[in-house]
Amino acid sequence: MVLTTLSVIKADIGSYVGHVMVHPKLIEVATEELSKAINDKIIDDFRVMSCGDDLELIMTHGRGTDDKTIHGLAWEAFSKAVRHAKELKLYAAGQDLLADSFTGTVKGLGPGVAEMEFEERASDPVVIFMADKTGPGAWNYPLFKIFADPFNTIGFVIDSRLSDGFAFTVMDMVKGARIELKCPQEIYSLLLFIGTTGRYCIESVHRNSDGETAAVSSTQRLNLIAGRYVGKDDPVCIVRCQSGFPAVGEVLEPFSFPHLVPGWMRGSHNGPLMPVSLKDAKPTRFDGPPRVVAPGFQIANRKMVGPLDLFDDLAFDSARAKALELADLMRLHGPFEPHRLQLEEMEYTSLPELEKRLANRWKPI
Ligand code: F6R
Ligand code: MG
Ligand code: MG
Repeated sequence: MVLTTLSVIKADIGSYVGHVMVHPKLIEVATEELSKAINDKIIDDFRVMSCGDDLELIMTHGRGTDDKTIHGLAWEAFSKAVRHAKELKLYAAGQDLLADSFTGTVKGLGPGVAEMEFEERASDPVVIFMADKTGPGAWNYPLFKIFADPFNTIGFVIDSRLSDGFAFTVMDMVKGARIELKCPQEIYSLLLFIGTTGRYCIESVHRNSDGETAAVSSTQRLNLIAGRYVGKDDPVCIVRCQSGFPAVGEVLEPFSFPHLVPGWMRGSHNGPLMPVSLKDAKPTRFDGPPRVVAPGFQIANRKMVGPLDLFDDLAFDSARAKALELADLMRLHGPFEPHRLQLEEMEYTSLPELEKRLANRWKPI
């Protein structure tokens, strides 16, 4: 059996102007590095892309997930790009490379990772979602809709290949534990956890009938890794489509509603997740609002055919209009919840300092 691995490894290693966009020089440097890896037969194909200030390395190869050589290659590409980011004095140059050297995996060192290995079908369409200014819990709502909600995915009702449903692996990002819940049987239990997006996130989805991988997402939370604020852990997610998986249109459908996600300015605000074309992944208003892009590919003999810019469609114009209206409504709250996140969820807070300064002025009631 010939297996293909699809690896998406991303990091914010510096941007311009401020936290808005990856600079073209970084794309160029990463492209050079991955081109060499093709010549050296380390990978079969790649695309270097970006979403906002996040540099995204998309690679196909035959080395399996969590492979030291692939992770080392990504680390090297990021590190080389950081040198240029520092030369250009790009903003927050080197931000997501938390370690001084590579130790066998990029997991825990800052970059976000989503990888899956599968036997290619006669035709294998995948969608890669990449978001900026939010965290991995942002995928909970759409992944639930895609893989458990018949009002979203009509395939559950009229395609018997989908009728056994899917199992969700959920990670507790605070406790560092995972659980598998099978749907449709355990929909209610699943929802109780994944509704808390800052703590629980869907790590992967598998087909109940044969265990085939349907989706994987990056679950790294930088602020928990580093124990201090180091930027939002803008997530990626790979979803396989068609012929026994939800159709491409069913996979994109949840994004017609720009649901509220934590992130946005200073990683401390709720805002709508706006689906945009690749060229519009440029979060400027109040450092946002949070954005998601959806390049689609056909995987063919470990090569990628694409990307097709799937949100570059006027059918998503009304989602964008709703997102902008929601953004206005949320912004009107200024520093008040529910726009501003609850204290425990904020990535920036001057509260401990303020508490200390005002400690003597609080009088018991
Ligand atoms: C970064 C982000 C931005 C920054 C904000 C303040 O991913 O979301 O909103 O948090 O621009 O950045 P600093 O503290 O670097 O001035
Ligand atoms: Mg940044
Ligand atoms: Mg970012």
